[in-house]
Amino acid sequence: MSTVTFDVAATRARFSALQRELAFFDGPGGTQVPDAVIGAIAAYLRESNANVSGPYETSRRTERLVADSRLAAASFLGGSPDEVVFGANMTTLNFALSRAAAREWSQGDEVVVTRLDHDANVSPWLELADDLGLLVRFVDIREDTTLDLEDLAAQLSERTRVVAFPWASNAVGTLVDVARVAELAHEAGALAWIDAVHYAPHGPIDVVAAGADVLICSPYKFFGPHLGLAYARAELLERWRPYKVRPAADEPLGHRYETGTLPHELLAGFVAAVDYVGSVGWDAIVSHERELGQRFLQGLPPSCRLYGLPGMDGRAPTFALTIDGLAPDEAARRLGERGLAVWHGNYYALEVMKRLGLEDSGGAVRVGIVHYNNAEEVDRLLGELERL
Ligand SMILES: Cc1ncc(COP(=O)(O)O)c(C=O)c1O
Repeated sequence: MSTVTFDVAATRARFSALQRELAFFDGPGGTQVPDAVIGAIAAYLRESNANVSGPYETSRRTERLVADSRLAAASFLGGSPDEVVFGANMTTLNFALSRAAAREWSQGDEVVVTRLDHDANVSPWLELADDLGLLVRFVDIREDTTLDLEDLAAQLSERTRVVAFPWASNAVGTLVDVARVAELAHEAGALAWIDAVHYAPHGPIDVVAAGADVLICSPYKFFGPHLGLAYARAELLERWRPYKVRPAADEPLGHRYETGTLPHELLAGFVAAVDYVGSVGWDAIVSHERELGQRFLQGLPPSCRLYGLPGMDGRAPTFALTIDGLAPDEAARRLGERGLAVWHGNYYALEVMKRLGLEDSGGAVRVGIVHYNNAEEVDRLLGELERL
């Protein structure tokens, strides 16, 4: 039994989007947003819409909103408001920040990535390697899909500039001991570059405790609008040379890496999303997700094969599975027809799917649980999986 009180029905009532038959197990692709987030976006456009730096009321309101967004980001991630960079999404921010960082590197420098990563934390480094003559090394995973830290240690050298790794796998849910990986990276003189996209809806982030030099996530995966959010250590933001237009302000530090006008209405939604998560609380989210995850794992019919850790320890409630005799796309399509939203394929987690031998057979079905799911939805999904 959970020791934390969490009223899932009251929480669901805060989302108009959840007042329908379709059960959303597609959170890893993007979560639903509470009405407060939608309201904040609409209110900004109605009441404060402007660009910054104008000598009039709506522009000043917009400047306050941008400052509030940096505060909200710092409260969500740790670090200081100056160390926040907003962008279109994680992928765009990662291409931009990696290119800025690499202006200091030279041919033969090395980047270490992992086979647990989403391609948004792999391809930016492969492209840089192509441009600059870098070497990209891959850290393997063990049979149980946990990151092989011995292999990581073996891949590090005095040429390693970055260790890029995920906080959680968006394919199989496996968590990474981020503080330990960051420590190994730092011992080698490399930066710890964390993709927290998949982890962010499932648990609290503290960039300082994690040892992150750079950490990137996407508010649309944690109940906010389609937006990207990065933290980078102040000293790096100050030292790197950003790709920016000349008149754009150099302060706050993170702004140097924000090109053009920010999506102000989405920032309003972002602040509301951070408030929303705070109002629910991580203790409630973590314990409810764990309960639902256990319920799902315990009820999984024998026709389903799970890839990844068999229990809830060391994982987010994200499950990759195949169903005997049924291709993943067909299984997902049938579940969709029966009011259950799940994903199928490789979810851009190319290396892990290759490693699990799933890449040539259509990948897997992915079931993603978040705190707004309830036991009835999990039972309905289990029942339909059995019927498939
Ligand atoms: C783990 C992980 N990293 C990165 C991304 C890319 O995020 P974005 O769509 O914000 O570029 C995703 C998207 O699914 C993801 O799951």
